[in-house]
Amino acid sequence: MTERAMRLVGNRPPQVQARERVTGEAQYVDDLAIPGLWHGVTLRSPIARGRIVEIEPDPDFDWSRVVLVDARDLPGRNVLPLILDDQPVLAEREIRHPFEPVMLIAAPDRALALEARNRLNLRYEAKPIAVEISDALEARVKVFGEDNVFKQIDIAKGDLEAGFAAATIELERDFWTGPQEQLYMEPQGMIAAWEGDQLVLRGSLQCPYYVQAAARAVFGLEPEQVRVIACELGGGFGGKEEYPSLLAVHAALLARKAGRPVKMVYDRAEDMQATTKRHPSQTRIRAGIDAEGRLTALAVDLVLDGGAYCTLSPVVLSRAVLHAGSAYACPNVAVRGRVVATNTPPNGAFRGFGAPQALFAMETMMDLLARAAGLDPLEMRRRNALRAGDETSTGQVLEQAAAADVLERAAEAADFRARRELYDRPQTGSIRRGIGLSLIMHGCGFTGAGESRLKGRLTLDLDARGEQLLVQVRTGSTDMGQGMRTTFKQLAAEILGLELDEVEVAAQDTALVPDSGPTVASRTLMIVGGLVARAARQALTSLGLEEGAGAEALRLALAGRGRLEIEEVHEPPATLFDEDHYRGQAYPSWGYACTICEVEVDMTTFEPRIVDVVTCQDVGRAIHPGIVEGQIQGGIAQGLGYAAFEEVQMHDGAMVNANFNRYIVPTAMDLPPIRVLLHESGQGAGPFGAKGIGEMPVDGAAPAYVSALAQALRTSFRELPVTPEAIAESFLRPRPGKADA
Ligand code: MOS
Repeated sequence: MTERAMRLVGNRPPQVQARERVTGEAQYVDDLAIPGLWHGVTLRSPIARGRIVEIEPDPDFDWSRVVLVDARDLPGRNVLPLILDDQPVLAEREIRHPFEPVMLIAAPDRALALEARNRLNLRYEAKPIAVEISDALEARVKVFGEDNVFKQIDIAKGDLEAGFAAATIELERDFWTGPQEQLYMEPQGMIAAWEGDQLVLRGSLQCPYYVQAAARAVFGLEPEQVRVIACELGGGFGGKEEYPSLLAVHAALLARKAGRPVKMVYDRAEDMQATTKRHPSQTRIRAGIDAEGRLTALAVDLVLDGGAYCTLSPVVLSRAVLHAGSAYACPNVAVRGRVVATNTPPNGAFRGFGAPQALFAMETMMDLLARAAGLDPLEMRRRNALRAGDETSTGQVLEQAAAADVLERAAEAADFRARRELYDRPQTGSIRRGIGLSLIMHGCGFTGAGESRLKGRLTLDLDARGEQLLVQVRTGSTDMGQGMRTTFKQLAAEILGLELDEVEVAAQDTALVPDSGPTVASRTLMIVGGLVARAARQALTSLGLEEGAGAEALRLALAGRGRLEIEEVHEPPATLFDEDHYRGQAYPSWGYACTICEVEVDMTTFEPRIVDVVTCQDVGRAIHPGIVEGQIQGGIAQGLGYAAFEEVQMHDGAMVNANFNRYIVPTAMDLPPIRVLLHESGQGAGPFGAKGIGEMPVDGAAPAYVSALAQALRTSFRELPVTPEAIAESFLRPRPGKADA
């Protein structure tokens, strides 16, 4: 790469569509006016497990006005294809979780569809249920196979027993995390229309080609027979990674039978009750440190609750076990991860994807080890932080590791040491204060050989045939608010020497754009953005131009041929990861982040208040610092919600607080300004040295918060969320199992 001053990379232009999003002009799926559109709703299981005996339609209802679909309307196998192919499109006889879809109803208006649903009497026979991880492990109720284990992954390095023998302090503790709802502002929604022999799906979705694959499999169609269009997205956070495939197939079944387009948009309660959540977890960590406080041995046994069907759980588990050791060097490691089946709705992708659970446990354990060793949390991390040349639990030798850098920068900005010491002194009065920190690393992009299998594609089209030069980036990556359209324009314009408005990003429509791979795993900027940069450079090379050539030079060079189309395919270097033994290079880049949180607790009400958050994150290179800072602030807010506010209350496997009144997410009023320090190591695998940063900010917030709370209250917490009720309980009714040191 030639070194020249950047015109656009590193700038903060307004986000594409920012204005339309704010004014309400942007067209979300529910805004689309399609002639003859009917409305679809879903009849769902009221119980967690059992057998459907009969569905009785009310004889007093005029059924000719609506269309009903059940499993018999499927053209082929009743399977939503994903990893294990265990999830039916519609339950046929067996019910495995609450709110499982059983029947679909379409009508000219939504009220009539809902009325019809109320006139269907689902008779069932309930069976015993397993709704907790402990139920699943006991395996008295068999939800999946003999042992309820969807997948187990083991990592082993060094000699664990020798490591424990070398330890002067050894601790073993259990940690728990609850589910978390993605709570995108726009609920799930999809419109299906059969146009000739083509199925057209428009929806709120992260991964157009995932939806295409699912619809093709269910209806037995060729790729060009399923056209998927991603509408403007009102947030995703992973919640629109796999779930839209099911909704698309449902809407398509109704549209086929009704012979007209059908829209299905969930209301908030249905969205919260029926769609995926972050996997609850239970983790036991046994760790040993030597006299200097350095880790000598680490044994982790982590269990995720997958819910009733496998969905993406094995991949979530993979990320969880790979993050179990956090950002620390340890020579002797054993990690056992399992994801188990329960009778709750399937859990799935959610920003962080297994890492937040594992990192909450490990980071909290680091604080407990520090306390046992008489070290403060900062010093404990200093002594153990991974450095360049160190190896991870899978034996990946890190060429670059900014763990210590982000730790020191954040600690200095927050004045951590002085504050920690201050709050260690006896506190009196009704307000108690504490400050805590976390240090984490997050693998950017797909794990191991994932990218080699995907072969993400992107097209860059330069067209000089008209009055003006048209430059278009064509990608299947979607913009769910994370700024893809803006950063991709910046990358192409920077390299080609154009203004931002001289580059356009094509709509995310499978008829127009290639499969860039799913919009997940913090891979979009790093991997697909890398393709943008490569395509732009390739275009210049084939036109005999230098980087930054500009519109005039491009027009002249294109004069002969008029148009140039460059297709780039991501071909990562031969994978250095052994998926059978979990050895080698798990991720092309790791990001590093230190998050520091300061809290006060009102001892009369046990109400905590977050008074300061400082974070330093190694983002490689910030292509758009404003977007990066926004991602970090939003991710930390989501992580603090996970830690302190958001409690999914479950009864017999069903969420019972499925509304904004009782499922509390932090708003701007609940959080202080989040101070973000960008550490630009320039050493990521992405364009201009960028790393993936979408998920990392979530990881470190919860352990930092809990660390601060533990100092303020002179206790420790090993279960998320720590709500004010949990704080009160720790004082009024201490539970030795869950809130001791
Ligand atoms: Mo994501 S949670 O990798 O969409």
